[in-house]
Amino acid sequence: MKLSGKSWIVAKSAYILFKKAILHFISLSWIFTAIYYAFFSRTYIREQRAVVAGLIRHIDDLKKSPSFFLLRKNIHRIEKGLVMPYQRSTFAREYIGETVGFYKKSIEQCSVEQLPLEVIWSRDVLLHYFDLVNGDPLISKAKEAFFALEKKGHVPQSIPYLRGEQNTPVSHADLQLLARQRKSTRTFLKKPVPRDLVDKALEVAVRSPSSCNRQSTHYRIYDEPALCREMSYLPLGAISFADNIPMICAVTGDLSAYFYERDRHSIYVDGCLSAMLFMLALETVGLASCPLNWAEIDGIDRKFESKIGIPKHERAIMFIAIGYPDPKGCVTYSERKELDLLRSYNKIENREVSEQKMIM
Ligand SMILES: Cc1cc2nc3c(=O)[nH]c(=O)nc-3n(C[C@H](O)[C@H](O)[C@H](O)COP(=O)(O)O)c2cc1C
Repeated sequence: MKLSGKSWIVAKSAYILFKKAILHFISLSWIFTAIYYAFFSRTYIREQRAVVAGLIRHIDDLKKSPSFFLLRKNIHRIEKGLVMPYQRSTFAREYIGETVGFYKKSIEQCSVEQLPLEVIWSRDVLLHYFDLVNGDPLISKAKEAFFALEKKGHVPQSIPYLRGEQNTPVSHADLQLLARQRKSTRTFLKKPVPRDLVDKALEVAVRSPSSCNRQSTHYRIYDEPALCREMSYLPLGAISFADNIPMICAVTGDLSAYFYERDRHSIYVDGCLSAMLFMLALETVGLASCPLNWAEIDGIDRKFESKIGIPKHERAIMFIAIGYPDPKGCVTYSERKELDLLRSYNKIENREVSEQKMIM
């Protein structure tokens, strides 16, 4: 049944009132909230299942074949200990044995001639660590286990280094220009997108920060025309220009990178930091992009997961349309808010903080 314009407005207003009443009611107590989302709404169920699948995978990895997530996280913690302004003489004793174990399993999984950069980094950081930190039985035991694997005479290189003077080769004005040049682009030339250019942009994206350097983000890129078209129709916000997208990318996050439920949002933060750098880098190689919302809609989520067969603990974060921009196509003006609305300093709601006191 098709509603007339007026009936549609009435129906929508009634729905909003009903929704507000429900939300108001369940907000009265966390028990109401829990009951509502357990029995009356499936909104969070897929996310919860993905978080659980991620935790199970993480725990399995701890025992069986450690993923790079675990090695990265522990090596990162050791590096952090090595760069602290007030370095403790002994640190990482609780997890150094585990870390050497992860490292051992990692080198067993790859050929010695072609160790991944991350394994070389782990080895170098461990060498550096054992050179500086000792004097504890647990650390001595781990050191022994590590040097049983280590050929003598290797000079570690991928280790903490002096940051040096702040001397950026990119001026503020250049970065401002690049930020302004990047516009969500919805009209692309009908021209294939060279993968080597996309890879160049990804080489920049990989420099983005991530929680404990876990790097939970993955870029699933589609440029085969039929597949690309199919993928472009999944995010609802691209339907009106899906046929015009020559390449599409799903940015996903792997929840098995995390051990606690409390970290479930980290994949989204990691993914978005990386995606932003990626989109800026695409501009520098002559390409344009449009970020696309990935709404948590059960049927669409399922379709995406089953189509490409991703594991349950990997979640879509957003999609990005990529292509050569059509110079004859328009982009939106999209005015930004004023600085005063964007930020505040020392603001505590309902309390005045004297500016005088804050002047350093
Ligand atoms: C997370 C996210 C989701 C977005 N989803 C869509 C979308 O589904 N469809 C679309 O056309 N644009 C989408 N955009 C683009 C925004 O509309 C755009 O970034 C905003 O209007 C500012 O314009 P600009 O990017 O051209 O500066 C999205 C942007 C972000 C950051």
